[in-house]
Amino acid sequence: MLSSVFAPLLVALLSSGSAHAWFRVACTTPLVQERVDPIVSPGIIPSNHVHTVHGANNFAPNNTYDTLRASSCTSCEVTQDLSNYWFPKLYFKDPTNGTFEEVSNGGLLVYYQNRGNGDVSNGGPGLKAFPPGFRMISGDPTLRTKKYPEGQGSQAELAERAIQWSCLRYDTANSTGYDGHGFPYTDCEAGFNARIHMPACWDGVNLDSADHQSHMAFLSGLDNGVCPSDHPVYMMKLFYEVTWDVHSFASRWDNSTGWPFVYATGDPTGYSWHGDFFNGWDQTALQNAIDNCNNPNDQTGSGVTEACSYLTVQSASIAGACKVSPVVNEPINGAPLAKLPGCNPIQPGPGDATLYSDSNCPAS
Ligand SMILES: *[C@@H]1O[C@H](CO)[C@@H](O)[C@H](O)[C@H]1NC(C)=O
Ligand SMILES: *[C@@H]1O[C@H](CO)[C@@H](O)[C@H](O)[C@H]1NC(C)=O
Ligand SMILES: *[C@@H]1O[C@H](CO)[C@@H](O)[C@H](O)[C@H]1NC(C)=O
Ligand SMILES: *[C@@H]1O[C@H](CO)[C@@H](O)[C@H](O)[C@H]1NC(C)=O
Repeated sequence: MLSSVFAPLLVALLSSGSAHAWFRVACTTPLVQERVDPIVSPGIIPSNHVHTVHGANNFAPNNTYDTLRASSCTSCEVTQDLSNYWFPKLYFKDPTNGTFEEVSNGGLLVYYQNRGNGDVSNGGPGLKAFPPGFRMISGDPTLRTKKYPEGQGSQAELAERAIQWSCLRYDTANSTGYDGHGFPYTDCEAGFNARIHMPACWDGVNLDSADHQSHMAFLSGLDNGVCPSDHPVYMMKLFYEVTWDVHSFASRWDNSTGWPFVYATGDPTGYSWHGDFFNGWDQTALQNAIDNCNNPNDQTGSGVTEACSYLTVQSASIAGACKVSPVVNEPINGAPLAKLPGCNPIQPGPGDATLYSDSNCPAS
């Protein structure tokens, strides 16, 4: 099974060299997959591109914090967390005839990381739990290229660096096209591992913003450091990780046809990868977990969610039974698709892509 193959790699990746506390919310089986986006397109059916959605079952085009809190289940494994998490689907574009097939993944892992100068481990006063109504996005579906010199450190460059991948290979000798930004061009025998750092610095006022990003800012070192003075409130840092089973398609392409995977955004470059977070936490439980489940001398300091007495971990099978029916009636997987769902023509860039709606779709 995909997730168990990937598990040791993920743990190795995340536990290396960090003295900072963290816990994780594992979301193995999606709640639903469809073109709905209550942050970018509230109340609109359908939204632009297909997402894989995890979390609370009151997810809806117009959900609110209060409706999420009234959910009866979550597809993720911490019951105090009735948030939703979503990201675009990955498709295989068959080089022989151009049809699209879904690529499976091992689920979403959401890491809650105690980071930044506000954290007690760095001598700070502690981190704040997300307030009711809070939501945010990291990444941008229109991006098709890298724009800033690596490590330059502006907020725009940090936002770019927040979107990452690794091509997990056993054949490390052939590691060209292996690691970095955008898509690789080799097979990834152990999976294509895509990650998203969320910003952890809040302006302290706005629960959202027009671009769903500017009420937040990144820590100066992305993974640690200081918050800018206009975003002074240190929050728990979220980090998403999804590992796609690209290797199942290895026999159906080679270097001469080029990397054949595209995001549901119509992106063959990988730069449009992004993640969304709509907070549905029991705020007291999250604040207690942040403040108390960070002891470096016990398991609460090293990512064992079960060791945190303020959080209740449910089994993957119970979580996996939490589902909602799609409200958008269209095929998004199963038999090969002649085109990506919605109006998402392949846009290779390097200029920013245009986001079309179904009603103004250019002829292809
Ligand atoms: C969301 O839309 C549905 C269907 O139109 C409606 O029944 C529901 O009351 C709305 N919920 C909110 C929170 O606005
Ligand atoms: C394209 O090829 C795939 C894989 O062989 C096949 O399943 C699909 O039906 C083909 N599509 C068309 C339109 O021929
Ligand atoms: C690297 O890949 C090439 C081409 O697929 C293959 O011939 C070669 O044996 C590989 N090298 C190693 C060390 O696996
Ligand atoms: C494979 O394709 C990439 C991108 O098109 C290219 O840069 C690379 O040189 C190719 N590698 C081989 C071994 O042909």
